[in-house]
Amino acid sequence: MKKESRNLLSKRKIIEYLNNKRKNKYIKDKNIFIYDKLDSTNNKAKEYLQKKINKSSEIKIILAEKQKKGRGRRGNNWVSYNQKGLWASFLFDLDMPREKIPQITVIGALTVQKTLKKYNIDSQIKWPNDVLVNGKKISGILTEMVITDKKAVPSIIMGIGLNINQNYFAENISKTATSMYKLKGTFFDKNEVFCELYLNFAEFLDQYISGSRKKIIDSWKKELKIIGKQLELKYESKVFKVWVLDILDNGELYCKLENGQIKIFPTAGTSLNFTSYKSR
Ligand code: BTN
Repeated sequence: MKKESRNLLSKRKIIEYLNNKRKNKYIKDKNIFIYDKLDSTNNKAKEYLQKKINKSSEIKIILAEKQKKGRGRRGNNWVSYNQKGLWASFLFDLDMPREKIPQITVIGALTVQKTLKKYNIDSQIKWPNDVLVNGKKISGILTEMVITDKKAVPSIIMGIGLNINQNYFAENISKTATSMYKLKGTFFDKNEVFCELYLNFAEFLDQYISGSRKKIIDSWKKELKIIGKQLELKYESKVFKVWVLDILDNGELYCKLENGQIKIFPTAGTSLNFTSYKSR
């Protein structure tokens, strides 16, 4: 069992672990940035972009032991003020048309799911991009696209939060959140989990860039398990009961309402009631 007290992020351990796996063609020492405390790793990544620290096309990784203002989707905050989880942002450029990029975020959820599988944890992706185990959230992904004035190629910041060694959660989230520790009753080495996450991420990104985008999006759609199901969702503060007919290539939900009308729900601003279809 891993002693949690000594489990801090370490560049040396990360490089060592990857070298042992003979897979270190992916990551270079100079591209890993580890902080003790940050507002948000996504914010730091934006700062790097402004300061033009990401000159090369290589992936940069920003990690923090703690985040004071971790950000989630839809303006939510992401509880990450202790060092028990993995708070990571991947910063990279994507030389492809912007309208194709919103779906890049699906590689985040697939990456987390594959990483958890390595630790014998079966998870489910909740549309669009949360990762749940037994109905509780273990990971969230916040992907942001930044277009700097002079540059035609957009930069992507993919922030991944993964609950690893939390043995308890604050009351307001204790019913909806879980961690690897809670599921397995043992502490995990964050450096090792990060390496596994990184290797999976690099693999999915490679596939995405080299033209297997459709395959990746299809496997994400399949994992969601909502096509053909009736479920409840909230959009612009209204609750809708819908049948999901399809998921469009940009991630939007193509649905039939109770009155027979067809309506498309965007990823931004729509939230699914997970229990409304999981129980069936
Ligand atoms: C969500 O579920 O709403 C997304 C949560 C994303 C959290 C991660 S933690 C690392 C990165 N930095 C942030 O401020 N947010 C993301």
